[in-house]
Order: sequence, then C-alpha cells, then structure tokens
Amino acid sequence: MSERVVEAGMRAYYDQRASEYDDWWLGTGLFAQRDRPGWTAEVDALVHIVGSLSPVRTLDVACGTGFLTRHLRGRVTAVDQSAEMVKLASARIPTVLRADAVPLPFGDGEFERVFTSHFYGHLLPGEREAFLAEARRVGRELVLVDSALRPNANAEQHQERVLNDGSRHVVYKRFFTAPQLVDELGGGEVLHAGGWFVVVKH
Ligand SMILES: C[S@@+](CC[C@H](N)C(=O)[O-])C[C@H]1O[C@@H](n2cnc3c(N)ncnc32)[C@H](O)[C@@H]1O
Repeated sequence: MSERVVEAGMRAYYDQRASEYDDWWLGTGLFAQRDRPGWTAEVDALVHIVGSLSPVRTLDVACGTGFLTRHLRGRVTAVDQSAEMVKLASARIPTVLRADAVPLPFGDGEFERVFTSHFYGHLLPGEREAFLAEARRVGRELVLVDSALRPNANAEQHQERVLNDGSRHVVYKRFFTAPQLVDELGGGEVLHAGGWFVVVKH
C-alpha cells in the first residue's frame, strides 16, 4: 500500500482556509485586490469544460469546496482530506467523503474517470507518481486541472500564503504548460491551455 502524500502543515492550511477558499475562485475577500487579467472569463471557460465532460462514474480527488465538482456530470463521488472542505462540499455534492488521495479507499477500476483540480501541482517528487498510480488503479481516465505557468514566473515555488486571520503558511506549488503536463503524464490530450489554467486528459 502506498505512503500518504502531502505533509501535515499543508493539510492543516487547507482545513483552516476552507471557509475563505472560494475567494480565490471568485476574486472576493483578499483576492479582490489581485490583478488577474482575464481570470473571471477563464474560470467561466473552465466551468464550461468541466460541465462538458461526458457523464460517467467520476471520482473527484481533493475536491475542496466542490466549486468545480458540482459541474461534473454523471455519478460523482468526491474526496478531500480536510473535514472543513468536506463539510462545505457536502452542501454542493451528494457524495463527499473525507479520505486521502493516496491510498484511495476504492477498488480497482471503480470509476470511469478520475478528476482532480489544483492538487497534482502541490505534490512532491515521489508523491506525484504515488498519486498517478492510485488514480490509474481506480479509474480508466484521468482529467487533471492545474495552474498555468505565467510569463516570467518560476514553475516551482514555495509560496507564502496569508489567510484572513493574518496567519502565514508555506505551500509548495508548481505551474505547468499543457505540453509539459502531457509529457509528465506520459501522453494525453490537451483540453485547455489558457493563461491561468491548463486541463489535460490522460
Ligand atoms: C488547492 S485545493 C484544490 C481544491 C479543489 N480541487 C479546487 O480546485 O478548488 C487543494 C485541496 O487538496 C486537499 N488535499 C491535500 N492533500 C490531500 C490528500 N493527501 N488527500 C486528499 N485531499 C488532499 C486539500 O484539503 C485541499 O482541499
């Protein structure tokens, strides 16, 4: 059985951030001051892409508040390690469990698609392979959404994040070009290559 992925500090950070997490998607709260040209239109485009995926048995891994999950069609199950995220996502999606991405508490081939958004880019070397192996074990197809590499930005960062209460947290995060992500997954199809997000199907 594979080792758990994501260290305790980052897990706790997301649990603490849950109630203010959607500010990032919506450009509200602390994110109202961010200069993010084209962000809202691209979030809309992303929602459209997610909603256009064929309706199959889908597992959303690390679903957060369920912001994107609620647009997936078909029989959808979602998991997240954070109790607070699961509580919020439960208001949006019928089947949400508090569970780990590695190992996933599901049998081989239980899903036709594994979906994951803004999770893979937080994984360290070793954790990435462990997650991909679990995703491939439980699902036939993987759809991966993550952050696009911005011009002049570092593809790998240890970011300091500040929450509404002023607390500071360090988060490991990567940014991708779509071809790089396809390459890293060992092949696949680019569904979206935007200024803010990439979506790849493998
Ligand atoms: C950046 S958020 C993404 C949330 C959501 N997918 C989205 O795109 O809005 C990362 C999420 O990963 C979850 N997470 C972190 N480590 C995890 C693990 N090992 N297993 C399951 N969920 C995990 C966090 O609790 C958090 O909700």
